[in-house]
Amino acid sequence: MTILAQLSDLHLQADADDRGAARALRTAVAAVLELHPLPDAVLVSGDLGERGDAAEYALARELLAPLPMPIHVLAGNHDDHEALSEAFGTPARYTAAVEDLTLVACHTPLPGRLEGRLDLEWLEAELEAARGGPVVIAMHHPPLLTGIPVLDDIGLAGEERAGLGALLTRFPNVRRVVAGHVHRTAFGVLGGCGVVTAPSTNLQARLEIGARAFDFVPEPPGFLLHVELDGELVSHLQALPGAGQ
Ligand SMILES: [Fe+2]
Ligand SMILES: [Fe+2]
Repeated sequence: MTILAQLSDLHLQADADDRGAARALRTAVAAVLELHPLPDAVLVSGDLGERGDAAEYALARELLAPLPMPIHVLAGNHDDHEALSEAFGTPARYTAAVEDLTLVACHTPLPGRLEGRLDLEWLEAELEAARGGPVVIAMHHPPLLTGIPVLDDIGLAGEERAGLGALLTRFPNVRRVVAGHVHRTAFGVLGGCGVVTAPSTNLQARLEIGARAFDFVPEPPGFLLHVELDGELVSHLQALPGAGQ
């Protein structure tokens, strides 16, 4: 059994008014530490900082430090991926082993843009290198449409989602594609593979199909727990006390 916890969209700020981001992350970290068994690794799927400066990443490291397991981070559109890489000592995109699971962390942010881009050639090479073993693909921008245009407009382009779908049909060993960015939990299927998005550890986006304006709502924050067992993978949503609780 392999367990991967996924925290997302921390949006930490180094100044005093951080909209509760630091307190919320402390709550999430404490909840992960209460799990038995502990996860084998933690993935943080982007937007660790609000502005993407070094002070935010120093704070992220400090708040995540109680977690004894490996922490794998990837950049979101709010992050400065060079500052993030420097703080956590990881490249922008990479493949990591989590027990018998292969985690392929993609880099999707574009400089100065809200929407993302996926390098399918790089991903294909990483999937080939995994040689049929169980894989979880992680990225900040989710490769699915949520039905919430204000979020879908800042996602991945249709041709990249289609290209990923074609790739996933060739690699049935990919157990899940996991993402963040939309500050809600949503699930879809692409190329026969489940795609799930994580909630934010702090602020959640309003559920309004067709919404063109972005709004945060006082709904419970949370994290995902991906559990691989007997060749399958189940993704749990763990809600946390927080805004509005
Ligand atoms: Fe975010
Ligand atoms: Fe984002």
